[in-house]
Amino acid sequence: MYIILQPFLTHPPAHSHAKTINLPEVNITFMPKVKETLELQKFVNVAFPALAVLVTVKDAKRNTNGTGNETNIITIAWHTQISRNPPLIGISVAPQRYSHDLIVDAGEFVVNFMPLKLSEQVHYCGSHSGRDVAKFSECGLTPLEPQVLSTHGIEEGLAHFECRIFDTKTLGDHTWFVGEVVSVRAVPGFLQDGILAKDKPPLFYIGKNTYSTLSMEQKLHLS
Ligand SMILES: Cc1cc2nc3c(=O)[nH]c(=O)nc-3n(C[C@H](O)[C@H](O)[C@H](O)COP(=O)(O)O)c2cc1C
Repeated sequence: MYIILQPFLTHPPAHSHAKTINLPEVNITFMPKVKETLELQKFVNVAFPALAVLVTVKDAKRNTNGTGNETNIITIAWHTQISRNPPLIGISVAPQRYSHDLIVDAGEFVVNFMPLKLSEQVHYCGSHSGRDVAKFSECGLTPLEPQVLSTHGIEEGLAHFECRIFDTKTLGDHTWFVGEVVSVRAVPGFLQDGILAKDKPPLFYIGKNTYSTLSMEQKLHLS
């Protein structure tokens, strides 16, 4: 069963100063009238897609002569922007990941947005541990000199946020690392008029080892 909420904008409450706007008539005939109940654990799949980013973090235990392997890489799909001022981003990292304690120790990390053509490398970094392999050299990736902090990014990425740890919280079975973004870099043309350019789409994860990008076939600009 549906409850159809009458859009209040056509009947503004007496106290509202909202300007009346004409919304197109809502047509829900395309939607089945019944909803199915899913297992609770499926909430993560329903909430996808998410950008599959590679987070780089210093690994003080390794020293491999400038190949980048003194930096570990972890694939992260659970992340979000949190605040504009100060600029904050959060990443959710399970304590059993090798990268978890590296982030605690380093106090900083870099978020690297990757292109679709590097999906194999993104998947590798999300299915192998830095405890066992040196991911930079295994993936043939190139370390990117940091601009403000001391953690390398990934040269082959489309965009990079250098983040200094701002807060850390244990939330359920993951740790929420809040990073203050202190540097933002991107390949030229990554943004066009402030939004993602169609020809340099970052990689999305949609669950079950499946990756995708934005086709933007149905891009709507509403003013
Ligand atoms: C697409 C994808 C997204 C992932 N997202 C997360 C995530 O948000 N948080 C997390 O803790 N692990 C996530 N993982 C799992 C880690 O990337 C994976 O366990 C990795 O091997 C950990 O590497 P490490 O042991 O070197 O830190 C993801 C894996 C994949 C393939």
